[in-house]
Amino acid sequence: MKTIYLDHAATTPVDPQVIETMIPYFSTYFGNASSLHSYGRDAYDALEESRKQVAELIKARKQEIIFTAGGTESDNIAIKGVAYQNKQKRQTKGPHIITSTIEHAAVLEVCKHLQTQGYKIEYLPVDTEGIVNTTELENTISKDTFLITIMTANNEIGTIQPIEKIGRIAHDHDVLFHTDAVQAIGKMNLDMAKNKVDLLSISSHKIYGPKGVGALYIREGVRIEPLIHGGGHERGLRSSTENIPGITGLGKACELAAQRMEKDTIYLKKLRDQLIKGLLEIEESFLNGHPTKRLVNNAHFRFTGIEGESLVLGLNDKGVAAATGSACSSKKLQSSHVLTAIGIDPIHAHGSLRLTLGRENTADEIAYVIKVLPEIVDHLRTMSPLWNR
Ligand SMILES: Cc1ncc(COP(=O)(O)O)c(C=O)c1O
Repeated sequence: MKTIYLDHAATTPVDPQVIETMIPYFSTYFGNASSLHSYGRDAYDALEESRKQVAELIKARKQEIIFTAGGTESDNIAIKGVAYQNKQKRQTKGPHIITSTIEHAAVLEVCKHLQTQGYKIEYLPVDTEGIVNTTELENTISKDTFLITIMTANNEIGTIQPIEKIGRIAHDHDVLFHTDAVQAIGKMNLDMAKNKVDLLSISSHKIYGPKGVGALYIREGVRIEPLIHGGGHERGLRSSTENIPGITGLGKACELAAQRMEKDTIYLKKLRDQLIKGLLEIEESFLNGHPTKRLVNNAHFRFTGIEGESLVLGLNDKGVAAATGSACSSKKLQSSHVLTAIGIDPIHAHGSLRLTLGRENTADEIAYVIKVLPEIVDHLRTMSPLWNR
């Protein structure tokens, strides 16, 4: 059976051009980028070329990018790094961080951990479409606030936050702004030369690059305390011999994303809107998240009277790979914190389905999903006490 992959927010296939770029760095150019001989030099050159490719995608400077082992690590380095720096320097500001209730676990769990160390964390609510209220954000800033960390786009419902405005507010109040752009990168223009973003997290496996590699943008002049100490790699901010094959893969993925963004955006938006229009024809079906301020590849629904897990299994039987919420929480049977935050009660939250598109999907595949999903929903509803009631 032909399979259709609609779970690109969880991870993406590695682009063949990315694989081709990486392969020589496993064998021919296997050197350690710190070595002085020609093997080391080749690895170093590849490292710096990749840094340039990442920087270009977000219009940053090459020296503002450090490589990490993924989005989670980037978020950890950014938030804890700023927090520890703030404490260590005994700056005038107290231990106050502002975030949102719909962040990924890679941010929420860091904040929770910092809370155990005496930091005060303010979790801003979002509206029913998942957007942070910037007036409320501004009112929450106190003389003790040193960091705002709010994601660029949500991994479950795809809602895009007003990060330009958040950045301006942060800077007006002399507060640093970190954004987790793991889902947004490659799907929207992110311009560090224009935006007042101080730190931005990137993950390779969401943009057709390999897993286990990421990057962190740190605006020139922003100081952070390193979390990993050792040989002083990545400007001393993330020691450990650089993963050159992975990093060249991320670099190439960024180059391709920059080249293809315009074309991909138009294409994905068309497919997404075809999918949304088709599936909203189903009785008692609803779109979660913002109707327009959403990632071009994200369609997130809820269907009254059924469970998302059954839908995902039903779709899997028909060859379609989908998700109930975020990949990280889909194995837990608790309601998604994001759906709770946008005011969806647990019963309806359980009936949700996330379909996230990628460049290899076609209009025929979407038409197939629009055909089979109503049949699955109907079938599940015939067995559902919730629907009959
Ligand atoms: C918004 C967001 N942040 C962080 C991460 C973690 O990235 P990684 O898997 O590279 O650690 C993810 C992954 O799902 C994500 O969606």
